[in-house]
Amino acid sequence: MARQLKGTILITGARSGIGFAVCEKLLEQGYVVIGISRSIDGDTLKHANFTALACDLRDFEQTKQKLRPLLNGQQVISGIVFCAGTGYFGNLEQLDFEKIQALIELNLLSPMFLSKLLIPHFKAQASGRLIFLGSEAALQGTKKGTAYCASKFGLRGFVQALSAECRQAGLNITLINPGMVDTPFYDELYFKPGAGQSNHIPVKAVAECVYNVLKADANGLIDEINLMPRNRVLEFK
Ligand SMILES: NC(=O)c1ccc[n+]([C@@H]2O[C@H](COP(=O)([O-])OP(=O)(O)OC[C@H]3O[C@@H](n4cnc5c(N)ncnc54)[C@H](OP(=O)(O)O)[C@@H]3O)[C@@H](O)[C@H]2O)c1
Repeated sequence: MARQLKGTILITGARSGIGFAVCEKLLEQGYVVIGISRSIDGDTLKHANFTALACDLRDFEQTKQKLRPLLNGQQVISGIVFCAGTGYFGNLEQLDFEKIQALIELNLLSPMFLSKLLIPHFKAQASGRLIFLGSEAALQGTKKGTAYCASKFGLRGFVQALSAECRQAGLNITLINPGMVDTPFYDELYFKPGAGQSNHIPVKAVAECVYNVLKADANGLIDEINLMPRNRVLEFK
């Protein structure tokens, strides 16, 4: 007997890392998934319930155009997982201002913009699960983290305020703050998690956490989860 589908979830940053792992997990669990990133296409993940939506989330006009058919259609969107994000680290005086701006646009403004587009849809159906990928950098400022910590502290403030604004409308809003997860996030950075399994969170564990939040009872609101590796050891490249 065919398994009943559990609903349609949008996942940003679906081409790699955490977003990709969340797509795989939710498809395996019977959700319909729409994966969003700049370079995503049908070859990214071959599954009957997966649709790729190529979109540059830093381009807000493009985001609105690409989302419009989804929001105006008959399709019910049950939730969204915000995984698109990037890192940029260094002493402030060494950072390029345009790159700081790009980081804030992707890590902070794009989830704000996308939420603003989706909230009316969720409020109209009196339900909607919004799960944001924050970071341990949303909890504590660290050396060389001025830009990244600012983007993630900002996201945390946004999520707390949005949750206060929307909880009585039936929405469930959660921030997940992982420590280091071994993904392509570190490809362009000067450091990465130290070798050894205890120095990073398996990407599948983050996907499992997202799934558990999605399936939790809607009347027990999960505001925030901090998910850390056993050790915090960096390796410099
Ligand atoms: N890895 C970690 O240790 C870690 C720890 C804590 C929090 N996080 C957070 O978790 C989230 C996911 O990180 P990750 O580790 O999975 O990184 P990742 O593997 O580098 O994935 C980033 C994703 O974002 C997409 N993306 C980048 N720029 C975009 C844009 N302008 N528009 C649309 N999509 C864009 C990328 O696809 P395209 O290139 O195709 O656009 C990719 O799918 C980020 O918010 C990150 O800050 C990561």
